[in-house]
Amino acid sequence: MRMTVFGTGYLGATHAACMAELGHDVLGVDVDEAKIKSLTEGKVPFFEPGLPELLQRNLDSGRLGFTTDYEEAAQFANVHFIGVGTPQKKGSYAADTTYVRAVVESLAPLIEGEHLVLGKSTVPVGTAAQLQALADENTNDGASIEVAWNPEFLREGHAVKDTLRPDRIVLGLQEGGNAEALAREVYADALQQDTPFLVVDLPTAELVKVSANAFLATKISFINAVSEVCETVGADVTALADAIGLDERIGRKFLGAGLGFGGGCLPKDIRAFMARAGELGADQAMSFLREVDAINMRRREKMVELARQELGGSLLGRNVTVLGAAFKPNSDDVRDSPALNVAGSLSLSGAAVTVFDPEAMTNAQRLFPTLNYAESIEEALRGAEIVLVATEWKEFQELDPEWARTLVAGEPVHGKPIVIDGRNCLNTEAWKSAGWEFRALGRG
Ligand code: UGA
Repeated sequence: MRMTVFGTGYLGATHAACMAELGHDVLGVDVDEAKIKSLTEGKVPFFEPGLPELLQRNLDSGRLGFTTDYEEAAQFANVHFIGVGTPQKKGSYAADTTYVRAVVESLAPLIEGEHLVLGKSTVPVGTAAQLQALADENTNDGASIEVAWNPEFLREGHAVKDTLRPDRIVLGLQEGGNAEALAREVYADALQQDTPFLVVDLPTAELVKVSANAFLATKISFINAVSEVCETVGADVTALADAIGLDERIGRKFLGAGLGFGGGCLPKDIRAFMARAGELGADQAMSFLREVDAINMRRREKMVELARQELGGSLLGRNVTVLGAAFKPNSDDVRDSPALNVAGSLSLSGAAVTVFDPEAMTNAQRLFPTLNYAESIEEALRGAEIVLVATEWKEFQELDPEWARTLVAGEPVHGKPIVIDGRNCLNTEAWKSAGWEFRALGRG
C-alpha cells in the first residue's frame, strides 16, 4: 500500500520506517526541514534502538522517502497517518492540538478523490470529530476525507518492536465510516499473527489511549505513595511490590518504585485528561489524577531532600554526581525527566552538580546548560561526595561498587561514601559490602 506519515518525531519516524519494513511504500512528511534532511540521509535525529538500521534498509529499498512538500504528500497516497505532537499548552493543563489541526487544514485543499486520515497522535476526546469538520470545510468539490482514529501505544526505547508487533490495534470509526478494510490491509502482517483488532467509535478510540497512559501513571504513583509510607516505618517497597505483583490481578509491571514517571507522554497526558474532563463537565471523575501527579512530583523533592540530609543538612558547594539524565533508560529524551529535574534542583540549592548519561547528554545540555557534564562514568564519579542514580541504565546497574569507591571523594559525613538509588535498580548488598552508605527511595 502507499501511505504518508505526517510528523517525524519518535512516533512518526518510527511508524514510517516500520510501515516500509512491512512492505508498504511510505512518504514521511514534516515541516521541519532539518529533520527531513537528516532522515533522508539515513540519520535518526534521536536515540531509538534498532531504528537507524530499519531506516537505512528501507531508504535503500526505495520504499521509504521524506519530504516537506504537502502537495507531494497529497498526490503520493490516499492514506495518511498523523503522528505530530500534542504537547501541553503553555499556561494550561490542556493538550495543544494546533499541529494536528494544521496537518488537516493544509492537506485537505490539496487532495483529489477519496482519502483516509488515520490519527495516531494522543488527542483530547472530541478532536477527531473536529478534524472531520475541518477536513469537510477545506476539501474541494469532488474530494473527500474520512477521519478515523488509530491510537499508538509504542514505548520509547522499544518503539520498533512495539510498532511491528503491537499487543493490540485499536481503530475508531465514525458512524458509517468505512476505514476498516483499509486499516486491515495496512496491518495485515500483525493481523496474521492474531493481534487483537478492536473496532470502536471515535471517542472511545481517543479515550483508550489517554486511559491507558493514565492507568500506567496511576499504577506508578500508587506504588510511590506506598513508598512514602514505607519510608516512615522502615519497610521495603521493592519487596512489597514483588509480593503484591505476584497476584496476577495486580501484576509486577509498572510497580517500579523510585523517582517516578516523566517523558513526553505520561505527565502531559494525565494533565490533558483532567483538563478535557473539566471542559466536558466531568472534572470530578478525573480529579484523582491531580494526586497521581502530586505524588509523582514529590518523589523528585524527596530525592533532593535525601541528598541534603545525607550531606549533613546543606547542599551548598557540595560535589554531587547524578547518574542519568534521560527520563528512562534506552532513550535520549529529557522531556520532563525526573533525573534532570533532580539535577537542576540540586544545582539551584547550591550544589556543584555533575551529570552523566550514556545517550542524553546533548539534549540535557540544551535544557540545563549550567550543570557540569562529564564525558564518562569515571569522570562523573571522580571527587563526588554523593552519587545519585536517577535513570536505571544498564551501565549504572552493572557499575562495580568497589571500583566506584576508589574514584569518589571518600567520607563526607558517615565515614563512608554515599549512594542514593533513585530507581531501586542497584544491588544493595554489593554496594553495602563495598563500603558505601546506601540509601534508596521507599526502603526505610
Ligand atoms: C508511554 C506508554 O508506556 C506507551 O504505551 C505510550 O504509547 C507512550 O507513553 C505514549 O503515549 O506515546 P513512554 O513515555 O515511552 O511510553 O515510557 P514508559 O515506559 O511508559 O515510562 C514512563 C515513565 O515511567 C518513565 O519515566 C519511567 O522511568 C517511569 N516508570 C515506569 C516508573 O517510574 N516505574 C515503573 O515501574 C515503570
